[in-house]
Amino acid sequence: MDKDIIVLAIETSCDETSVAIVKDGREVLANVISSQIDIHKKFGGVVPEVASRKHIENINAIIQEALDKARITFDDIDVVATTYGPGLVGALLVGLSSAKAIAFGKNIPLVGVNHIEGHIYANFIEDKSLEPPFMSLIVSGGHTHLVYVEDYGQYEILGRTRDDAAGEAFDKVARSLELGYPGGPIIDNLAKKGNKEAIDFPRSYLEEGSFDFSFSGLKSAVLNYLNNSKQKSLDIVVEDVAASFQEAVVEVLVEKSIKAAKLKNSKIIALAGGVASNSRLRDLMKKRCDEENIELKYPSKILCTDNGAMIGSVGYYNYIKGIRSDLDLNAVPNLKL
Ligand code: KG4
Ligand code: ZN
Repeated sequence: MDKDIIVLAIETSCDETSVAIVKDGREVLANVISSQIDIHKKFGGVVPEVASRKHIENINAIIQEALDKARITFDDIDVVATTYGPGLVGALLVGLSSAKAIAFGKNIPLVGVNHIEGHIYANFIEDKSLEPPFMSLIVSGGHTHLVYVEDYGQYEILGRTRDDAAGEAFDKVARSLELGYPGGPIIDNLAKKGNKEAIDFPRSYLEEGSFDFSFSGLKSAVLNYLNNSKQKSLDIVVEDVAASFQEAVVEVLVEKSIKAAKLKNSKIIALAGGVASNSRLRDLMKKRCDEENIELKYPSKILCTDNGAMIGSVGYYNYIKGIRSDLDLNAVPNLKL
């Protein structure tokens, strides 16, 4: 393609209002992320109604800020991409409506993007030479997927969580330890000072050969441990609980990813999603990948969290394939990969 394709991408599926300008799928000209975490913190989690309202308040200013940062105007945009699912319906509708307005007003194509796909594509922005096929572990607050990326837009889902997502387990355990929200980064930090062998929490591998995940049993085991300790007036070493819990999650994520990569003969594993920021997950996965001669990729922390740039990358690859969305595109809260 001779002409550069400039995508304006909008992401409002949860508690981040983000708008990015992405050139040719991999070059980020702007990636403005406005997080609502401080607002939701007081409630111990994301309040959907509050999220929608904040997106509405912020979206226009964030769009303008992204254009200014990229030093372009609406006239320079070739494509508008927006997350249309999965996510909170009211939150999704804010980004979707804004994207439709731009597409209609400027008479340019609209491309609806799957948020989970976005997390995978953050790896294409981080590593400009990365090409499919590869194995991807997507671990976020809402999703835990083991996916073989055969090509752009072509996926084989090997496994997914049967109950809680990995990030959700971190957040719930953090809540039971009264550590605050979101729990993942807090547990990650505390765990560095703890003994990961202090408490033997269960590792759930499910049936032989299964690539699915389950974290609710582990979450209950942590709650039982805390309740029993309190009843017997035993000291609870929060750092040890954090480290032991984290190790139980990470070990299963790592071993299943390695097994899946070997099954598909994949020489690359790419991590994605908020939990891909976890330092123990990165370290143990690196160690096991080195042992198995597999290359490990993961996005920088800012690209692991929800952001518009990853949506812009999917938008570009969908656009050059000829994929377009109609202006009656609706939000799909439970959209599957
Ligand atoms: O991808 P993301 O920003 O939003 C969703 O699409 O869900 O992921 C947010 C999740 C939260 O559950 C948060 O606790 C978790 O990612 N998280 C972490 C870390 N940083 C964020 N979990 C473990 N360790 C971390 N360092
Ligand atoms: Zn996400």
